[in-house]
Amino acid sequence: MKLVYFGAVIAAAGLLLGSCQHEVLPKVNASDICFERDVLPIFVSNCAMSGCHDAGTAAEDYILTNYATIMAEGIKPGRPENSKIWEEIEENEMPPNHPLTAEQKSIIKTWIAAGAPNGVNCTSNCDSSKFTYSEAVSPIITKNCVGCHQYPSASGSVDLSSYQGVRDIAKSGAFVHSVQGTIGYKKMPPSGAGLSECEINQIKKWVANGAQQN
Ligand code: HEC
Repeated sequence: MKLVYFGAVIAAAGLLLGSCQHEVLPKVNASDICFERDVLPIFVSNCAMSGCHDAGTAAEDYILTNYATIMAEGIKPGRPENSKIWEEIEENEMPPNHPLTAEQKSIIKTWIAAGAPNGVNCTSNCDSSKFTYSEAVSPIITKNCVGCHQYPSASGSVDLSSYQGVRDIAKSGAFVHSVQGTIGYKKMPPSGAGLSECEINQIKKWVANGAQQN
C-alpha cells in the first residue's frame, strides 16, 4: 500500500516537472531590437485590449501601452527571471487563449536581458517599394493587429487572422482609413506608437494594387 502511494507521489512530481519545462526560444540579437518597433506592438496587440491591460481597464494594475507603464509594473532591466511581466508570460501563459509565439517571447526576453532599453536600434528597416501581402502586409498584421483581431474574441468582429479577413477590410476601405486614423474611423492600433509612415504606404500600395494574396 505504501509503495503504491510512493509511486503516485513520484508520478505526480514527474508530471509537475514535465509541465515546468521551458520551451527553447529562437535566438534573437539584442542589437536588432528597438522597443517601439519590436517590443511595444507585441504588448499592444496581445495585452492592451479593452477588458485587459489597456489604460481603461488596467487589469491587476498592469497598463501595457507605453514604455513608462510597462517598466513601472513588471520589468527588472537585465533580469527577465525577476521580471513579473516575463513570469506571467512564461509561467502563466499570458495572454490567455492565444499564447505569444516563440519568436515574440524571445524578443521580449532578450530585450529585458539586454537592460530593457528604449530608443536604441530604431533605424527603420521598412522598405515601401516592397508591398506584397507575404513580404509586407501579413507581417504588419501579425505584429500589430492579430492579437486583438482573431476569434474567439475578434475586436469589432473584424478577424484579421487570415488573408480573407484582411482582404475584406481592404476592399471596404476600412484598412487604410483605420491605420491612417481618418476622421470617422477608430485609429488602429488603438494605442502605442501606431504604424510608421512607411508601413502605411506599403498598405496603401497593396490595397491600390488590388489587395492580392501575393
Ligand atoms: C488593442 C486591440 C486592437 C489592436 C491591436 C488593433 N485593433 Fe482594430 N479594433 C479594436 C477594437 C476594440 C475595434 C472596435 C472599435 C469600435 O467599434 O469602437 C477595432 C476596430 C477595427 C476596425 C473597424 C474600424 C471601423 O471604424 O470600421 C478595423 C478595420 C480595424 N480595427 C483594423 C485594425 C488593424 C489593421 C490593426 C493593426 C494595424 C488593428 N485594428 C489593431 C482593437 C484593436
